[in-house]
Amino acid sequence: MRYGIVGLGHRAQMYVSALLGDWRDCGTIAGFCDVNRARMDYYNGRLGDPVPCFDPGGFAKLLELCDAVIVTSVDATHARYVVAALDAGKHVVVEKPLTVDAESCAEIAAAAERSTGSLVVTFNYRYSPRNSAVRGLIMDGTIGEVTSVHFDWALDTIHGADYFRRWHRDRANSGGLLVHKSTHHFDLVNWWLGTTPVSVYAEGALRFYTPRPGRPARSYGAPGLGTDPFLLDLSADPRLKALYLDAEHEDGYIRDQDVFTEGVTIEDNMALLVRYASGALLTYSLNAHAPAEGYRAVFNGTAGRIELEVCERSWTPPHAAIDPSAAPGSWERLTLHRHWAQAEEIPIEQGEGGHGGGDRLLLDDVFRGPGADPLARQAGYLDGIRSVMVGASANRSIATGLPVNLTGGGTRMATPMR
Ligand SMILES: NC(=O)c1ccc[n+]([C@@H]2O[C@H](COP(=O)([O-])OP(=O)(O)OC[C@H]3O[C@@H](n4cnc5c(N)ncnc54)[C@H](O)[C@@H]3O)[C@@H](O)[C@H]2O)c1
Repeated sequence: MRYGIVGLGHRAQMYVSALLGDWRDCGTIAGFCDVNRARMDYYNGRLGDPVPCFDPGGFAKLLELCDAVIVTSVDATHARYVVAALDAGKHVVVEKPLTVDAESCAEIAAAAERSTGSLVVTFNYRYSPRNSAVRGLIMDGTIGEVTSVHFDWALDTIHGADYFRRWHRDRANSGGLLVHKSTHHFDLVNWWLGTTPVSVYAEGALRFYTPRPGRPARSYGAPGLGTDPFLLDLSADPRLKALYLDAEHEDGYIRDQDVFTEGVTIEDNMALLVRYASGALLTYSLNAHAPAEGYRAVFNGTAGRIELEVCERSWTPPHAAIDPSAAPGSWERLTLHRHWAQAEEIPIEQGEGGHGGGDRLLLDDVFRGPGADPLARQAGYLDGIRSVMVGASANRSIATGLPVNLTGGGTRMATPMR
């Protein structure tokens, strides 16, 4: 399989490394497409033989060189590449979120249905062993029918802040965190429960990353660099320097804007109520300025209750490093409570490599195919749409103050899930 890659920023690295490394028997890289030549040159420098590079206007030429396209560009640009690649009959691998709004969901659905190609959305959280374990317990009927879920996600001032430094801070690019980030979480709930969302009500606000007097426009060259925990030193990391600092003259993409400056159009505190076709209810919250990072998902069922508690970083060091390996004190606990029985802790089997082996499982799925996966982890375009539509509907609900019904219109919400 010959792969074209669109969007040569941070995320492209996982796919380039895979195709140069343990998955090199699955395919080759045929070309790149990006608005920024310097980033394409950076990745070409990693290949033995450089591949052709195209700007967005040359995407059709890239399609001629490849059998499949990997889309790792800015969220709001996914749809145009996905639709063009599907219309050319290609296989598409697209990063989450599939897209950012209801209109482009409908365009992708129409393209997927008329295409001879196929589409995989890489929802990597599904492959994390703890999340897979929850899916297994629910599928096995361990807690009976799930009646409600409470899901609380905290992003800390390293990870959460990073969405307020660059393109994500503009809703037009990312759909806001309820699309960009929560697409993972809404997909998990859809998949865990095996049902589809039917109504969404949301509230949200920007409370922390608001303009503060005396802040620099960006971190680079700012006096507090090295001491201010919200300033990110791009020059201290050779990869960040090459991908962003040394590339910004081309497109003006400033990777280290100050998080407390004007121009943020997304929320940092969000709360949702979602009802599902199965009758289950979800209460969900996302906070992007927490002092620690992790999540808690609680499932109430007719025969018991599951509690998944995850701490990904127990405290946040006062440096704006974004390397997750700098995470101190991570732990996880999965507890099963059944009526009239003592609670039991369910062991979570870890695999080799990143995210408890989840990264390898995902890449195997993407490049070798899912095989007969009893957990049905590989996600298609309907899964992508169903998760984006929860976030996009939440955005609409916040804007209008009204709940949004998802059962009408062309969003395929009513189609039964695998
Ligand atoms: N699954 C995950 O855990 C995960 C993690 C990180 C990123 N992602 C996803 O990967 C994608 C890229 O994120 P990133 O962190 O690499 O961002 P990034 O800013 O590092 O890279 C984005 C790239 O897209 C390019 N781009 C912008 N406009 C374009 C256009 N019109 N056509 C082609 N390319 C364009 C930029 O020049 C840049 O090279 C996003 O959709 C993001 O949600 C997923």
